[in-house]
Amino acid sequence: MNAPMNSVDDALGDDHARLGALLEELIRAVSAASPAAQALLARLTRGLLHHMAWEDQVLFPAVKALGSAKERRSIESLEIDHERLRETLQRLETALAAGNHVASGPLVNWLKMLLQGHNYDEEHGVYGEANRLINEEERRNLIERFEAGRPKEAS
Ligand SMILES: [Fe+2]
Repeated sequence: MNAPMNSVDDALGDDHARLGALLEELIRAVSAASPAAQALLARLTRGLLHHMAWEDQVLFPAVKALGSAKERRSIESLEIDHERLRETLQRLETALAAGNHVASGPLVNWLKMLLQGHNYDEEHGVYGEANRLINEEERRNLIERFEAGRPKEAS
């Protein structure tokens, strides 16, 4: 990275793209019943849990504090998505650990569907609101905290 990022859209959009590429690799491994699937899921899980924890603990509270009731409500719906994503990661981990190929295929496709809808909502919603509501210096601090904690293996 050259200049420090100050756009939430750019920093978090990049992470969506990285995690999306990892998910595609995982989908291929699951459909081939490859033994690599468990390690790929572990990498995806670490990256996604960091991404969601930063949003839940850092970004969303900052936007909620400055935003209107409408912004707070759309964030609540993103928080519910995060719960569903965590549950799905957990169920997929259980299915892969048990070698349950019948369950793991539909679960990984469901994960992709949830994540695509969720990422779209964030990129067209809260990230833009964060850029609008949070001043530049504070945004840069928030993004630095995100980058500092990001598992680099998910790159
Ligand atoms: Fe999110």
